[in-house]
Amino acid sequence: MKAYRAALLRFDDDQRPVYDADGLLVVGPDANGKPVVRAAGDHATLIGNYPGVSVEDLRGQLIAPGFVDMHVHYPQTDVIGAPAAGLLPWLENYTFPHESRFADPAHAREVAAFFFDELLRHGVTTALTFATSHPASVDAAFEEARARGLRFITGKVLQDRHSPDGVRDETEQSLIDTEALIQRWHGVDRLGYAITPRFAPTSTPVQLRGAGELAAKYGDVWIQSHVAENRDEVRWAAELFPDARSYLGVYGDFGLLRERAVYAHCIHLDAADRAQMARTGAVAAVSPTSNLFLGSGFFDFAAADAAGMGYGLASDVGGGTSFSPFHTMLAAYCVGREGHTKPGLSLTPGQLWWQHTAGAARALGLEGVVGNLQPGCEADFVVLNPQATPLLARKTSQANSLDELLFALIVLGDDRVVVRSVIAGS
Ligand code: GUN
Ligand code: ZN
Repeated sequence: MKAYRAALLRFDDDQRPVYDADGLLVVGPDANGKPVVRAAGDHATLIGNYPGVSVEDLRGQLIAPGFVDMHVHYPQTDVIGAPAAGLLPWLENYTFPHESRFADPAHAREVAAFFFDELLRHGVTTALTFATSHPASVDAAFEEARARGLRFITGKVLQDRHSPDGVRDETEQSLIDTEALIQRWHGVDRLGYAITPRFAPTSTPVQLRGAGELAAKYGDVWIQSHVAENRDEVRWAAELFPDARSYLGVYGDFGLLRERAVYAHCIHLDAADRAQMARTGAVAAVSPTSNLFLGSGFFDFAAADAAGMGYGLASDVGGGTSFSPFHTMLAAYCVGREGHTKPGLSLTPGQLWWQHTAGAARALGLEGVVGNLQPGCEADFVVLNPQATPLLARKTSQANSLDELLFALIVLGDDRVVVRSVIAGS
């Protein structure tokens, strides 16, 4: 058992931030020996219950749940900042050529190692990640994640049409490979598999049907894809699937909308789509830096809430421009403010932070497992320095409320704030 004394941030069941200015976080094994949060709260109240437990003094710093990135492409680590005239040219000119290099397992391994080091440097302790269409890219990511003890989800991309040589896969073999990877990796240590059709335009109906059959057979495996990101993409999907009610409806028709199904973007949806997301339990991975960079549009937080659909925040690197959860939360705030294509609103700092931690975990079906520091949660957390830069020190010293403190970190923070990322208590 080990304890940490610091300011402490966590969330209650009503999504509200709970803050202890002088807090104590106690970490130790649960009944199965798994390192979990044993207690979290006010130092003076709790300390008497833990005589003899060593306490690391981190006063002046803030302990918070590790961030959860709901949608990121590890093979696009080197694609960040590639300019293009929107999504489809960006895929063709930069993304597919880069991803073709992941046929080489040594390349996949090198990028995966860099990617995880970068996630942890930024305080991201769990991610749902695309690999590429090459099975070796999945093995590389899982091996590197396992070596670091991470709770981590990925899967082989399915794309058997409208894709160039080097990334296009073969329908039948792609489904055989997917099932073999599920059996090899899903549930090993803290790893999980996600069935990963890239997006409807690059899969044949036969491949989507096969993906849906695997999703029915393996009910606790995740599903991840993209939907309704860009107007040209939406038009293309409608041409390719003329019988579907909508682009989202394509996924529904093939059995790919259910709990643990995570769809990046969800910008150009209509009310019936949002109702279908809510009804089926499928959730959105909101990717604001990517949507701003590629000029895709603005996620409608109010419409999503009104429909009751789940969502959380994501970097979507390499369409996204940063691994930093602070940058993503700030971009989500700006996207929420946008009031020309939809009603503008001001997300509170507590809402933004929740959407990138406990809210993202809930959307992934991992509530009470990661993304929070309530007793029983796995012991993944970050130590943040509110004085990391001169401007942050100045600004946070003037904070008169938790909202002001969190907003200063969201607006001014980046990797310099992250002193330490702790995985499974170490
Ligand atoms: N749609 C299909 N593939 C991709 C991708 O790699 N990134 C983004 N942002 N959208 C996609
Ligand atoms: Zn993406």
